Amino acid sequence: MKISTLLALVGVATASPCPYGQLAESGTLSAEDSAKFFAAREKRSAGETAPFEAEIAARNAEHAVQEQFYKRQILGGILNLGGGLLGGVLQPFTGVLGGLGVPTPQQFSLKEIPGDDASHQYVAPGATDVRGMCPTLNTMANHGYISRTGITTFAEAANACQITLGFGYDTCTFLSALGLLAGGDLPSGKYSIGGADARVPNTLGPSLGISKHGFFEVDNSISRQDAYFGNQANFQLERWERLVNITESYGGQFSIPTFADERVVLYNEAKSINPQFDAGTRWLAVTTAERVFIPRALPNGTDLNNADYANVAPFYLNETFPRDWYRRPTPYSLVNTGTDIADLLASSSELTTPGSNEGLGNFVPLGTDISDVTPAQATCFLASAVFDNTPGFLSPALIDNYATVQAFLAGAIAPFFAGQGCDLNFAEPGPDAGDATPGVSETCNVLRNGVYQC
Ligand code: HEM
Ligand SMILES: *[C@@H]1O[C@H](CO)[C@@H](O)[C@H](O)[C@H]1NC(C)=O
Ligand SMILES: *[C@@H]1O[C@H](CO)[C@@H](O)[C@H](O)[C@H]1NC(C)=O
Ligand SMILES: *[C@@H]1O[C@H](CO)[C@@H](O)[C@H](O)[C@H]1NC(C)=O
Repeated sequence: MKISTLLALVGVATASPCPYGQLAESGTLSAEDSAKFFAAREKRSAGETAPFEAEIAARNAEHAVQEQFYKRQILGGILNLGGGLLGGVLQPFTGVLGGLGVPTPQQFSLKEIPGDDASHQYVAPGATDVRGMCPTLNTMANHGYISRTGITTFAEAANACQITLGFGYDTCTFLSALGLLAGGDLPSGKYSIGGADARVPNTLGPSLGISKHGFFEVDNSISRQDAYFGNQANFQLERWERLVNITESYGGQFSIPTFADERVVLYNEAKSINPQFDAGTRWLAVTTAERVFIPRALPNGTDLNNADYANVAPFYLNETFPRDWYRRPTPYSLVNTGTDIADLLASSSELTTPGSNEGLGNFVPLGTDISDVTPAQATCFLASAVFDNTPGFLSPALIDNYATVQAFLAGAIAPFFAGQGCDLNFAEPGPDAGDATPGVSETCNVLRNGVYQC
């Protein structure tokens, strides 16, 4: 039966007083939205509560704001290489970015990952497969949700992030865009989830890998050491054990208060032992975001408030999903991330003042006040963290091709912050921003029970 006939029939059966009902009945909503609406109404008439109408309304409102933003971007001539959000979907890029595939929105639901899907079972990485410092990217690679080689793309990693962890299209696209900027090849969208790798082209300049220090890879990682002390990609069992010890004061939970506590410990430690400790704007965004991600992504989707050892440890110690594990059923957005970051900062026992060590005992504050950060400000931190004047944080490819980078920022990052009131005039990198030091990979890529198997 044609969808329009179906809609007409349902319309006759129960005329809806709600505007979405009317839209659905008149066939104005997309087939997908209509299907959701009617499924929701069916459930409600069966006595169940149905939040779908409110969800559809919120989503449509968000898309309307994005569409206004898109129109302003087009009028301003800043989408000169394409991109932008229409209908909640990134539009294709053009020109030098014409070969850059874009992520696509995925379906969200409670779903077992990997379940019995034969193509997504754990396979230990082979000798030439790259792994790095993001436990979840390593896990996605070990299960073939991104290439098992560890050489992924902007679109592939953002899609896998939605599929495996149920993070939102906005959050996943943002993270993958940062990965690409940190150490990838913009025209092809390829990047290594560890260090520099010959399989990633160097079209605009050297592709250094996402572990290139100073952009996405920062000091005060949870389970990795600061780059100053050597390899910043390798898992450090002792750091993990210290974290597990801290969870014991919080009922065994890897929760926001646990990480607020742990982050203060690491901050003070690095300040006293790392002469090059760099706690800049991106450090603030990354060290807080990665911590709130754990309690939001790793619990069993059937029990979202339980980020316990059984759910978190397999990602870290074996780089695999827990047995019989379900992803979260509803998307986790950038606004949710900002809210959680504000919560984490407010729960911290000490202010972790941004700044940097210019030698031991000489911490120079940046002058950013983080004593009273609102959720909206924290969401905007994520956007403003993209560029600042920190020396040595950018692959020279980006500095030499800043117009292309700007077009990518306008097309792939700014639209997700439309309506958040953020300052989206990304600062142009300062004169000392370039540095061609390649990132590193895990020196041995098979991790079993927290121990490398080499
Ligand atoms: C999809 C694209 C993603 C990219 C490119 C990416 C990249 C990275 C990078 C560069 C780091 C190092 C940060 C540092 O130096 O501290 C990192 C760490 C981390 N990422 Fe991801 N990430 C992605 C998605 C995710 C998602 C969806 C989660 C959700 C749980 C996540 C969780 C983490 C955690 C918990 C860490 C801290 C690791 C540790 O030090 O113990 N990442 N990621
Ligand atoms: C964790 O706690 C145990 C027991 O108190 C202690 O023996 C161990 O040294 C601690 N580990 C770390 C890394 O702090
Ligand atoms: C990691 O894998 C090993 C060996 O397969 C297993 O014995 C151990 O329980 C796993 N650890 C976690 C935390 O899942
Ligand atoms: C996740 O929840 C399901 C359903 O309650 C349960 O069967 C499964 O054992 C849980 N998995 C984990 C890793 O807790």
